[in-house]
Amino acid sequence: RNALNKLSDSLTDDDPDLRQKFEIEMDNFFALFRNYLSDKASGNTLVWDKIKSPNPNEVLHYNKILSINASSPSSLYHNNSTNNNLSKLAVLKLNGGLGTSMGCVGPKSVIEVRDGNTFLDLSVRQIEYLNRKYDSDVPLLLMNSFNTDKDTQHLIKKYQGHRIRIRTFNQSRFPRVFKDSLLPVPTNYNDPLNSWYPPGHGDLFEALAASGELDSLIDQGKEILFVSNGDNLGATVDLNILNHILDTNAEYIMELTDKTRADVKGGTLINYDGQVRLLEIAQVPKEHVEEFKSIKKFKNFNTNNLWINLKAVKRLIELNSLDVEIIPNFKTISVNGLESNVLQLETAVGAAIRHFNNAHGIVVPRSRFLPVKTCSDLMLVKSDLFYLQHGALKIDPSRFGGSPLIKLGSHFKKVKDFQSRIPHMPAILELDHLTITGNVKLGKDVTLKGTVIIVCQDGQSIDIPNGSVLENVVITGNLKI
Ligand code: UTP
Repeated sequence: RNALNKLSDSLTDDDPDLRQKFEIEMDNFFALFRNYLSDKASGNTLVWDKIKSPNPNEVLHYNKILSINASSPSSLYHNNSTNNNLSKLAVLKLNGGLGTSMGCVGPKSVIEVRDGNTFLDLSVRQIEYLNRKYDSDVPLLLMNSFNTDKDTQHLIKKYQGHRIRIRTFNQSRFPRVFKDSLLPVPTNYNDPLNSWYPPGHGDLFEALAASGELDSLIDQGKEILFVSNGDNLGATVDLNILNHILDTNAEYIMELTDKTRADVKGGTLINYDGQVRLLEIAQVPKEHVEEFKSIKKFKNFNTNNLWINLKAVKRLIELNSLDVEIIPNFKTISVNGLESNVLQLETAVGAAIRHFNNAHGIVVPRSRFLPVKTCSDLMLVKSDLFYLQHGALKIDPSRFGGSPLIKLGSHFKKVKDFQSRIPHMPAILELDHLTITGNVKLGKDVTLKGTVIIVCQDGQSIDIPNGSVLENVVITGNLKI
């Protein structure tokens, strides 16, 4: 606490608002840190045997809500309540993360993903279209972090005068702590950016309230906030879910989708002591990890598309009842030129589900979960498998089955390298599985079908010529075809 007090004192700026904000941040950090230490000391972990699959009324299938909607008196199908529903909606994109994992500097949301559009451009286009089509005024909120705010502000200037209100606010900036001493890494307010971290998207509730945006939305008559990851291109406004949450007075809805082999690590909804909760892999004892990953007990996982009642958020903030599980994240960073092991304490917005009344999950089609975490994902969303419609990616109707499995090696990790190695997207409508590793370059108008594996040994190169059609082949070595 002393070290944090010293940090607060290091702020010499006279601006009282800045000082107050920083002091609140340090207090909130201290509370998080204290909870972490006391949870650790009391061994506050879930008892595995008490974990049950959720009840049928705790996780509904999307088709079920369609049929409930169709028979409801206020339904979209019975009267034209869409406008009325949209007047109660605000959309929020979690925008605190950087593009570092894809080798980019700056916010991840400014990476170009499709036809010259960034993640952010696509979100804006979707909501602009919604507002035009239904003559509505759905605002877009961006929760930025100290890492992403400046670049995001710059980018959104171009949307002034468009049919969309964009509001931004910043999440907290917490100090990293040294793993061994547990003392804060920064000793001064102005210490370098890597001494600090944004504490995960669980920070949303506090940050929304502290920024004044929560009250402002409620004053505007907004009831529901649709939250999603900025890098999930499938997270579009779904009018059926909006109707459902308004009709059922649920305070929180989490969209889940069925697991595939690629997403066994995602958090899942459980019933614990009769309550709906999110279970993250970090909370699972080692001996149960395989069980957690299997689809027997936990069939679906959290997409982080969340529908949250704003008045409920306000109530829970006022009661100070939004505590969630803390996720410790250990990292190695350079402090004054020395490699140091540090700890940052994070929380996840999905974990708050247990505090809301009538909270439940909805199992949605896979198309609502289209995250871009790697250049393999980027290849998919840039390909002919999808087409763009009013800012939303739609799968080509001639595609048979789900998306192909694409695995690009480390030569394709950075967006820049990906673009220079695959300057023209191959046609992949009939592709099932693609693996490319090593120094490989694809030419123009290449078609990939079935299973294609291209493995280039170290020190060699493979150039796939323009116009090649590769179907069920394995290509290795220094080959020119
Ligand atoms: P991540 O990319 O870090 O998380 O952030 P993830 O591994 O996909 O999975 P989950 O959803 O956390 O389980 C997801 C979204 O949250 C934002 C990122 O910008 C991204 O849109 N985020 C993350 C924040 O806004 N603030 C944070 O502190 C962390």
